[in-house]
Amino acid sequence: MAILLPGGAGYIGSHTAVELLNEGKDIIILDNFSNSKPEVLDRIKKITGKDFKFYEMDYLDKESLEKVFEENKIEAVLNFAGYKAVGESVQKPLEYYHNNITGCLVLLETMKKFDVKKFIFSSSATVYGEPEKIPLTEDCKTGGTTNPYGTSKLFIEQILKDLYKSDNTWDICILRYFNPVGSHESGLIGEEPKGIPNNLMPYIARVAAGTLKELSVFGNDYDTPDGTGVRDYIHVVDLAKGHVCALNKLDKEGQGLFIYNLGTGKGYSVLDMVKAFEKATGKNVPYKIAPRRDGDIATCYADPKKAKEELNWVATKSLEDMCKDSWNYIEKNS
Ligand code: NAD
Ligand code: UD1
Repeated sequence: MAILLPGGAGYIGSHTAVELLNEGKDIIILDNFSNSKPEVLDRIKKITGKDFKFYEMDYLDKESLEKVFEENKIEAVLNFAGYKAVGESVQKPLEYYHNNITGCLVLLETMKKFDVKKFIFSSSATVYGEPEKIPLTEDCKTGGTTNPYGTSKLFIEQILKDLYKSDNTWDICILRYFNPVGSHESGLIGEEPKGIPNNLMPYIARVAAGTLKELSVFGNDYDTPDGTGVRDYIHVVDLAKGHVCALNKLDKEGQGLFIYNLGTGKGYSVLDMVKAFEKATGKNVPYKIAPRRDGDIATCYADPKKAKEELNWVATKSLEDMCKDSWNYIEKNS
């Protein structure tokens, strides 16, 4: 029995593929390389010494997707496929809703047809909108997303809740990621944003590498200890391990719809991140204070207690690991 990973050649999917293979699981990756490269597949094999099946295809292509389910015995699906650039989603809402929501619907319909009912979904802390309280617990209100990317996550969560209500033989786990950063310690796989990065850590790494001149710190007048935005940065390997724990829970207990925050429970400011990166790598990160970015909030971090109690999962990697591993990937791949 295999586990299907649509979008498994991407940043989080490739790291999760490594952890699943290390656990001895049989996996199948499906990806159209719209935001990843074929080399990643060999690198996953190199890290793990294990082989797996791969399909180059669009997960919206129902006919090809059905063939994948016909040709393989699939027991669970971890869906990483989708578009994720917040700014671009504002420019291209139809493309984002189509790829993220329609794609997920096609996948769920196909799963239903083949009676595969174990599903893990990559959601985001963005579904909390303006946080009701800090730290965020899973029962905090959701909604008030400020862009189509975030809204697509919110809608898919609702679709999954409605699906489970209609048929409680589904086993569904919604994982709300906080801010994934870093890369595998081998430096073979990592985050490869196209063009100029929007997210903080890849931007800092490119400033350190000299590819970008300086970091713009978006606002220093927030109600936070140093005035800059505070987030819960989580090492991508910890995040990947969270998927293995979620799958184990569905395997053992199953039959339910579960929602977990995957974060460290610690908040760091933009300036904390700059300092930590400089200390961990010995590189300089010049920055200037710039106006606030539209749609940003002051503070966002998780209460990860539920994942600890129910999944037996905690993030173990430090901020230093996150910075060192982000830099290691850039150094080895540029
Ligand atoms: P990514 O872009 O690196 O990976 C997504 C993968 O899906 C890519 O390999 C891409 O080629 C593939 N893909 C996209 N559309 C496809 C399609 N129609 N058919 C087949 N493959 C397709 O992104 P990521 O950072 O690994 O994120 C994975 C998931 O986690 C996404 O759903 C994302 O929204 C979610 N998420 C990411 C973050 C983050 O900061 N990286 C935070 C919260 C949630
Ligand atoms: C952003 C998205 C969120 C998405 C997440 C992961 C927005 C409003 N939110 O979250 O939906 O799930 O990425 O992809 O875009 N910062 C700077 N300068 C920079 C970049 C960032 O100061 O050049 C600051 C931001 O203002 C923020 C912090 O760094 O305070 C983190 O930003 P970022 O990495 O973009 O993540 P989020 O905004 O938390």
